Amino acid sequence: MTDVSSQGSFPGDDREVLTNRQGHPVYDNQNQRTVGERGPATLENYQFLEKISHFDRERIPERVVHARGATAFGYFESYGTWGDEPIDRYTRARLFQGKGKRTDVALRFSTVIGGRDSSECARDPRGFAIKFYTEDGNWDLVGNNLAVFFIRDAIKFPDVIHALKPDPVTFRQEPNRIFDFMSQTPECMHMLVNLFSPRGIPADYRHQQGFGVNTYKWVDATGNTVLVKYTWMPKQGVRSMTEADAANIQATETGHATKDLHEAIERGDHPEWELLVQMMSDDEHPELDFDPLDDTKTWPEQDFPPKPVGRIVLDRNVANNFAENEQISFGTGVLVDGLDFSDDKMLVGRTFSYSDTQRYRVGPNYLQLPVNQARNANVRTNQRDGQMNYYQDPAGENPHVNYEPSITGGLREGQYPTHDDQGPEIRGRLTRARISRTNDYKQAGQRYLLMEQWERDDLVHNFTTLLSQCDRPIQERMVWHFLLVEDDLGLRVGEGLGIGPEDVSHLKPLQSQDLTEEDRERLGRLG
Ligand code: HEM
Repeated sequence: MTDVSSQGSFPGDDREVLTNRQGHPVYDNQNQRTVGERGPATLENYQFLEKISHFDRERIPERVVHARGATAFGYFESYGTWGDEPIDRYTRARLFQGKGKRTDVALRFSTVIGGRDSSECARDPRGFAIKFYTEDGNWDLVGNNLAVFFIRDAIKFPDVIHALKPDPVTFRQEPNRIFDFMSQTPECMHMLVNLFSPRGIPADYRHQQGFGVNTYKWVDATGNTVLVKYTWMPKQGVRSMTEADAANIQATETGHATKDLHEAIERGDHPEWELLVQMMSDDEHPELDFDPLDDTKTWPEQDFPPKPVGRIVLDRNVANNFAENEQISFGTGVLVDGLDFSDDKMLVGRTFSYSDTQRYRVGPNYLQLPVNQARNANVRTNQRDGQMNYYQDPAGENPHVNYEPSITGGLREGQYPTHDDQGPEIRGRLTRARISRTNDYKQAGQRYLLMEQWERDDLVHNFTTLLSQCDRPIQERMVWHFLLVEDDLGLRVGEGLGIGPEDVSHLKPLQSQDLTEEDRERLGRLG
């Protein structure tokens, strides 16, 4: 006889009854079915097997990068202008038109290298990924908090990430591996100077900036294009931590940033960021000493002033972390009419990678999940079936027609809203070549000079501590790079490692690099 006392239900308990996924009521959730009181268990034990085998599959692969993150929801409010000018002069994207126009958004913050349960105190770039659920379909802007990136060609992404991830043998993040790669990759100097400064450990997610990093385009009603870069400034201010601050927090809490975001939103203290846009004409800009499509560079603000176009407010937490934070999927290919890619060689690589990994990580029908759906637009595709297919898009009047074209029903092509031919005409030869104007050191040096003294001290300390764990040839090459970034940086890190300019003067430029006149002058001074 069943022991009713173990079932938790009693007369007058009006809570809903637990069922299995087939809708069968569960009468005993404490004991599996066995032959006799002490077993053995039977294989037809459907309720038990379903419960356990679903549990066995609860985890999906974590993101290969940015595994740890926190998502919140809210809205974007457009100012209708770019600075003082009407915004439709530059883009026809509808979400930007009209003062006060609101669009639903999801924003996911993240760290990059650690796994899903890793510490949020890590020195690591922070992700800043936004999904705008617009009436023209979704727009994703997938950026970071440091404005630039380590590399400028997507073909190097697996290498930079392998170097930063744990060692395949010791499973520890090893400075020797990191700086081995970086010492052979001069384009990463700008990113390193940011990452190893106090900015490399933001205080939490509410007090960090966001940047689109890659160069995009805006398209106006007649098909004219301009190049743009996006910046998000927190109304809360920007705050960072030193290594010592981070170690203190980490001693008792590895998820402080997620906690801080969640609690702020729960108490009605809704975080806000203003969106600023820099713009330049859509051409190669030979007058600049860098390439506008190079994501290791920022655009000087005095020449390309960032102008406000709107703000984002986060006012709702996730209802379920797995459904809305783990399964949310962003990609740089997700753009709406009036916005476009540029030929930035990182951006095109990213655009393939995101949806490719999401088909693997979440499944081929990942865009059917509520958090990923283009919920404010009509979705009518002829895509069918696949694992975990949840519903079928309405196919028009004739349900037999899931192809196009057809004269018997089904969906038809739309009409281009305006000009589809856009931007400058491009001609070139198929090639594998690095861009000219690599200029790997100048902006890194400018960044160093802009730092306050305590920030420089922190940067030098962080570099010296980690490089002291590296092999001598790696140390020497890094000191050589730092001397090209800025004398003071190279001399101070070198001093900490016992390496003077005379110890690195024998080093030749790497095969993979071009030096500017200024770089050569600095090299000359090494002796
Ligand atoms: C996540 C690839 C560069 C920002 C990811 C993911 C992949 C990836 C595979 C995991 C996506 C998922 O599982 O849903 C790449 C490649 C890059 C690149 C191939 C270079 C070629 C960048 C850059 C930035 C960036 C330059 C910053 C501007 C992010 C962010 C996420 C992410 C914020 C997390 C998105 C989320 O919260 O779900 N990236 N990435 N990535 N990446 Fe990149």
